[in-house]
Amino acid sequence: MPNTNRQWKLNARPKGLITPDVLQLSESPLPSLDEGQALARVKYLSIDPTMRIWMADIPQYMPPVQLGEVMRSFGFAEIIESRHSDFKKGDKVTGLTGLQEFALISGKETRAFQKLPSIPFLSDTNFLGTLGVNGLTAYFGLLDVGKPQPGETLVVSAAAGATGSIAGQIGKIQGCRVVGIAGSDEKCKWIKDDLGFDAAINYKLPDWKALLAAATPNGIDIDFENVGGDIMQAVLDRMNLHGRVVLCGLISGYTRQDPALASFGQVLIKRLRVEGFIILDYASRFMEAGKQLGMWKMMGKLKDKQTIVKGFEKAPEAINMLFSGANIGKLIVEL
Ligand SMILES: NC(=O)c1ccc[n+]([C@@H]2O[C@H](COP(=O)([O-])OP(=O)(O)OC[C@H]3O[C@@H](n4cnc5c(N)ncnc54)[C@H](OP(=O)(O)O)[C@@H]3O)[C@@H](O)[C@H]2O)c1
Repeated sequence: MPNTNRQWKLNARPKGLITPDVLQLSESPLPSLDEGQALARVKYLSIDPTMRIWMADIPQYMPPVQLGEVMRSFGFAEIIESRHSDFKKGDKVTGLTGLQEFALISGKETRAFQKLPSIPFLSDTNFLGTLGVNGLTAYFGLLDVGKPQPGETLVVSAAAGATGSIAGQIGKIQGCRVVGIAGSDEKCKWIKDDLGFDAAINYKLPDWKALLAAATPNGIDIDFENVGGDIMQAVLDRMNLHGRVVLCGLISGYTRQDPALASFGQVLIKRLRVEGFIILDYASRFMEAGKQLGMWKMMGKLKDKQTIVKGFEKAPEAINMLFSGANIGKLIVEL
């Protein structure tokens, strides 16, 4: 049992991508436990675009991470020592572990951790992706905000990512025609051939807008928007009357100033219902979604992929992979 904890702390606010000065590796002694505390060893770190938002000092849905604090992140961990009535040694948990090797669970932070059941057909990393924030986001975003109807056309951007790949598959389960937009031929092949999307458009091809038009001959009823900018603009231009835009994320704007919302005139003209949402709003229904996502996964209706980066020290580089598109499916750092 080591007696120190390596931690990535926020050292400077990023201007674009994560440069080496933004996160600083530091070591602190592991605390001995008081009554009501548990210590968890982090096995996997979830790498999420929202981490880039949390690093910035801008208005957002959670307080920004302060300079000098351990960088906030989701993770999967195992309890290695406990004086906490909710946890025993060996329990597996997910929650806001932070970018560190060990997480102390104590007091009100207990609420940020969820004890996990052991389910034979689920891997540990599934609890960070398909059965974690991404699966829940896809589930509530598409079903509650998008309200898909059989036969409708759904377009998903960042479609080979952790959230988009699940949103598209749930769209298929609901009987939609599903078109994915992603940044490479390999990603397009995966979502079309393995995940069952009806069409996949590589937005890096020069004629991608014509390909999008050809793949959506009846227009678009639902936009599951993960990207913003040019991609959102091209999708909005093809929306049908009374379409729904599920405003899940705008990743193209996270690392630069981008007037991504310029196309919003279409919202007015086409009487679109646009609804932003943050997955935290659905906390009271996570169990419902977990059961359904788990069932679909068990039945083989949801497939997933992980991009696993090995080594705690690679965490800062891994965050940048989200913005260059170097991940397929869920991006995870294995410690
Ligand atoms: N509302 C919520 O509660 C909530 C919760 C979770 C996630 N989200 C949002 O969902 C979106 C996806 O998140 P995720 O965790 O599932 O990540 P992800 O899709 O697994 O990874 C991000 C992907 O975005 C694409 N991308 C990055 N920069 C881009 C750009 N400039 N133009 C086009 N595509 C770009 C890349 O794929 P390509 O190779 O295809 O470019 C990259 O692989 C993000 O916008 C995130 O903020 C929202």
